[in-house]
Amino acid sequence: MTVDNPGNHLVVVIGAGPAGLYASKQLANHGVRVTLLNRDVKPGGLAEYGIYHDKFKMKDGLRRQFRQILELPGIDYYGNVVVGQKGDISLPALRAMGFQALLVTVGAQGTKWLGLPGENLVGVYHAKDLVYHYNLLPPYSQQEFHIGRRVALIGAGNVMLDIAHWLVRDLKVDQVVAVVRRGPNEVKFTKKELESVARNLDLADLDAELERVRPVADAVGQAVYEARDFMLSALPKALEPNSATRFRFDFLASPRRILGGEQGVVRGLEVEDTTLICADGEVQAKRLGTTRVIDVDTVIFCIGDKVDESFGLPVRWNAFVKHAEPRFPVDGLSYEAFDPDMGRPVDRIFVAGWSREASSGLVGVARKDGENGAEAVLDYLAGLPGLIEPQRVLDNLQDHLQRTGKPLVRQEHLWRLEEAERLEAARRDVESFKFGDNAAMFAAMGFA
Ligand SMILES: Cc1cc2nc3c(=O)[nH]c(=O)nc-3n(C[C@H](O)[C@H](O)[C@H](O)COP(=O)(O)OP(=O)(O)OC[C@H]3O[C@@H](n4cnc5c(N)ncnc54)[C@H](O)[C@@H]3O)c2cc1C
Ligand SMILES: NC(=O)c1ccc[n+]([C@@H]2O[C@H](COP(=O)([O-])OP(=O)(O)OC[C@H]3O[C@@H](n4cnc5c(N)ncnc54)[C@H](OP(=O)(O)O)[C@@H]3O)[C@@H](O)[C@H]2O)c1
Repeated sequence: MTVDNPGNHLVVVIGAGPAGLYASKQLANHGVRVTLLNRDVKPGGLAEYGIYHDKFKMKDGLRRQFRQILELPGIDYYGNVVVGQKGDISLPALRAMGFQALLVTVGAQGTKWLGLPGENLVGVYHAKDLVYHYNLLPPYSQQEFHIGRRVALIGAGNVMLDIAHWLVRDLKVDQVVAVVRRGPNEVKFTKKELESVARNLDLADLDAELERVRPVADAVGQAVYEARDFMLSALPKALEPNSATRFRFDFLASPRRILGGEQGVVRGLEVEDTTLICADGEVQAKRLGTTRVIDVDTVIFCIGDKVDESFGLPVRWNAFVKHAEPRFPVDGLSYEAFDPDMGRPVDRIFVAGWSREASSGLVGVARKDGENGAEAVLDYLAGLPGLIEPQRVLDNLQDHLQRTGKPLVRQEHLWRLEEAERLEAARRDVESFKFGDNAAMFAAMGFA
């Protein structure tokens, strides 16, 4: 659907990750005027600050696509703007200004704490914070993390392997152990990602571990040799090792408590043994009550993320609540925020991307979800006339944001920053260069 009177329908898209950017493109291409508000100075979300820092080609390709989107007429970008109850502007304030729909694509910025004793010890972290740190997102880029020599990674997804990659190839720690609550046949990572660290796998230890868990796998009809074949299939194209880090797996182990030593620093991870059961059509981990301690000095949770509960929308499980009976479904999915206490949709608010389903899929999935979210918004707008004075709404927002006193990053500033980083990369003769703090970025963009 293309709206009547192009430019007179106003939508705010909150969050300029892949979901928000592709949603903005879809809306702008259908005649909607889009205001794109983004917490970070730069657009891209996890495509900029999550995807591993040495994937230059992939990141550059995405940056080019994002630039093309931001060059479209009808999209006003404001970076360095936090939306939320404690942010620079709240959802109700945006609604009150007269925006006709708000599409929330802020990703999953909250932390999935498990409530285990010892989570607050020095040396316990969540993957997202470290990923933001090594990808140079302020303020995480300047934060200090206490990473020891023997690191436990909880989880068996691609994020676990990204963190292992960093520990093995950049920090060159002594040992990395992936602690997995289910078995070797339930790992979620891909062969491609394993290639970065496969040559550091302790193969004798892997075989011993597979032998240890084989009876449990057999009992649910699984063949551990298939898991072994899968892992070893990463070896032929694996990166040449550049450290002596020993990488291993500890299966059927669920974290129970983190043990502290001197000065509140991690000295071990207590895990509970699990077994596998078939229930509800899937293989699940069942705790057995017996425990053991893994000798580590750092614990990093790589178990996915959840949305920010302080953002201002109701949360269930790890994501914002959606209307179970959407008025504007797309592909049978709901993109409409819902308030379970009031028993009704949240007025004019739509959600997409990792805000709709946390930690789910690759950039392509977020892109499709953003486009679907935009479709739902367009269906909603089809029943509404355009605004009589859209410019007044846009001016009011700009006035409000200017009153925060923060540098407001617009498209022209982004292009200046891009050019400054390109020149700096050339000067240093490196493939890519990124400023790691806001002050340097603002200076490069020409803010006083
Ligand atoms: C460590 C890691 C590595 C990954 N590697 C790959 C990979 O190699 N290949 C691949 O295809 N996919 C990869 N992914 C997945 C991919 O990054 C995601 O699918 C995608 O980025 C999700 O997009 P999104 O727009 O929903 O959220 P995000 O990318 O998280 O974007 C959210 C945006 O919202 C903004 N925001 C947050 N809060 C606010 C607020 N309060 N107000 C205003 N703005 C806000 C942020 O600044 C950000 O720009 C990886 C993910 C992770 C975690
Ligand atoms: N290079 C890439 O392409 C790349 C890189 C990074 C991320 N990504 C994508 O980003 C998405 C998110 O990745 P992800 O690794 O965060 O998530 P993920 O693939 O869902 O993996 C999460 C892991 O954490 C475990 N886990 C969850 N809750 C747990 C708990 N309470 N206790 C113990 N273990 C727990 C899960 O085990 P169970 O299986 O038992 O639940 C699983 O092994 C994925 O789609 C991924 O492919 C892609």
